[in-house]
Amino acid sequence: MNYDEYLRRVPKVELHCHFEGTVRPQTFADLARKHGVELPTQDADKLYDYDSIYEFLKIFAMVSSTLRDQEDFARAAFESIQDGVSLGNLKYREMFFNPTLHTRRGIPYRTVVDGLVDGVRQAERELGVTCRLIADVYRQDPPEMAREMVEQVLEHRPDEVIGLGMDGAEAPDPPEKFVDAYRLAKQGGLRLTAHACEDAPAQNIATCLDVLGVERIDHGYHVLGDPELVKRTRDEGITYTVCPTATAVCYFDADDLTKHPIRQMADEGLKIMLNSDDPPMFHTDIGTEYVGMVNAAEWGPDRVRTFVMNGIDGSWASDDEKRGLRQGFERELSALDAELER
Ligand code: HPA
Ligand code: ZN
Repeated sequence: MNYDEYLRRVPKVELHCHFEGTVRPQTFADLARKHGVELPTQDADKLYDYDSIYEFLKIFAMVSSTLRDQEDFARAAFESIQDGVSLGNLKYREMFFNPTLHTRRGIPYRTVVDGLVDGVRQAERELGVTCRLIADVYRQDPPEMAREMVEQVLEHRPDEVIGLGMDGAEAPDPPEKFVDAYRLAKQGGLRLTAHACEDAPAQNIATCLDVLGVERIDHGYHVLGDPELVKRTRDEGITYTVCPTATAVCYFDADDLTKHPIRQMADEGLKIMLNSDDPPMFHTDIGTEYVGMVNAAEWGPDRVRTFVMNGIDGSWASDDEKRGLRQGFERELSALDAELER
């Protein structure tokens, strides 16, 4: 077995991928046809090309606009997990969704979440993968809309919905804008995370930790601009959920992952774990993210093992679930290591 195959077969946890960004191009095209949504081209995959977060977010909203019925959400959620399993040996995922991208179009919150839960439970039954859900604040929304979204989340809350996150374009809308939404979520017992320092100075991480009370940081690359914060988050064991390709396309040099800040974050001893973000929308998948980033950074199996285990540690699975995941991962990794050596 060569190293690329090893990396694809390593068991994986994902803590940073967006449901709406995982919709297969074919499903996007099918749903557009089903609901009479005109796409600018028949080849949906052609729409998945952009060079800024703003262009990306336009297409992300277009994909979202084709999800309407409970079955649409269920189908796309199941397929999303199925792709993680077949392309990267996914074992456990915590997945974001953006309620307001749907409710603003008149889709009831219950339709969205019940559909997602249908898909997630089907995946648990048929694929043995547990997937939990994190409702994301969309940063371009007004703060009151984000707060109302959290109220909806707390009002109708299947067990799968465990957290609050935040995405969208970071530079124009800093995290403190959503302090009310985060406070309410915390009171309601949701776990907290946020996209930060994908495209803004390190200050946003400090705000997320100290003002919003988040437990993880999604992305976090610009922490490197603040050595004190590097030290603090290393000492506190904050998990960084990093995404090689998506951010390379939007912010760094897409063709050269050797220069990706993830590499330096790992060298600084930060607790990173790898994720796919919006895989088909960036022409990637979780297996390919491992192959690309690990080879670019010249990481050996020991470091890969550390990053994979960071995913279990940083997850919001129960202690029992984490123990089970660790045991299963140890077993699979040992078998893979033996095959690699042969
Ligand atoms: N960053 C910001 N907004 C997003 C992302 C991301 O990684 N993915 C989907 N929406
Ligand atoms: Zn993201």
